[in-house]
Amino acid sequence: MANYGENEAQGKFWNDAPGQSWVKHDDVMNLRLGNISDILFDRLRGTSGYNVLDIGCGTGSTSIRLAETLTQDTRITGIDISEPMLIKAREKAIEHANVAFVAADAQAFHFEPDTFDAAISRFGVMFFQDPPKAFTNFRLAMKTGSKLTFVCWASYEENEFFSVPLKTVLDFVPSEYELHANAPGPLAFSDKSYLLGILQSSGFSNSHIEVVKTTVDTSDTPEEDAALLMQIGFGARAVREAELDQKRTDELFELFLANSKERQSDGIIKYAATVYIVTATA
Ligand SMILES: C[S@@+](CC[C@H](N)C(=O)[O-])C[C@H]1O[C@@H](n2cnc3c(N)ncnc32)[C@H](O)[C@@H]1O
Repeated sequence: MANYGENEAQGKFWNDAPGQSWVKHDDVMNLRLGNISDILFDRLRGTSGYNVLDIGCGTGSTSIRLAETLTQDTRITGIDISEPMLIKAREKAIEHANVAFVAADAQAFHFEPDTFDAAISRFGVMFFQDPPKAFTNFRLAMKTGSKLTFVCWASYEENEFFSVPLKTVLDFVPSEYELHANAPGPLAFSDKSYLLGILQSSGFSNSHIEVVKTTVDTSDTPEEDAALLMQIGFGARAVREAELDQKRTDELFELFLANSKERQSDGIIKYAATVYIVTATA
């Protein structure tokens, strides 16, 4: 899909190098998000129904886990704007006949009204240009009274996986690099009142935010951890924007490496994380 509808910038982002980098590091990222996935699926206990929507499903890990968790006649629909991520998702879900994927801008996609018995997302709903429009679209696609459950990041300061690499980069290349509050991106919903306002103006009721402290863990070596941080997330973005040459890039890698080594204990590197588990009724 070369036309990303109302989400041109994010469409390009998730189809170009950053989306391809997620595909490349799919296994590693899923392992790192393991604690958070377990928390999300714990809160999804009791979810049932025939049709379940996975918004911003990426490479399909949560869609497949839903298929494995729910009864066999449940149909899971994953929707995502990234073709490369969906190619990977379809490969991974090959054995699951009840999982289907749609390549589209979820904000504007014409869902059949009143279709879904539940909707979920792991970090896939913070990237819309017009969040009230997107969430209204999801609500209308859901059956009245059905439940939306998603996980999103709390603030940057509470999430070392973002703050540590970004601080390292900013110390290394002082720049005008700014975090725009509420702008589409991983941290767009860290302001709880902004998030609750979106849900309310989209017609959801019983909105609730549970704040959960956890960790992003990895058994990767410090070298692997530093290499990943050079390629994914805020560190990677700042590197791209600062247009570092090879020598400076290598120097930055050494700083990341020193940090990863310092964090490693008993073979595990841990980043403190805080997420919101958000629930609302359509
Ligand atoms: C941080 S990734 C999370 C992917 C997946 N849920 C996971 O946990 O592995 C965010 C996802 O949102 C998708 N996304 C961003 N904007 C979107 C849009 N307008 N419509 C559909 N998907 C979108 C991206 O392509 C990407 O796959």
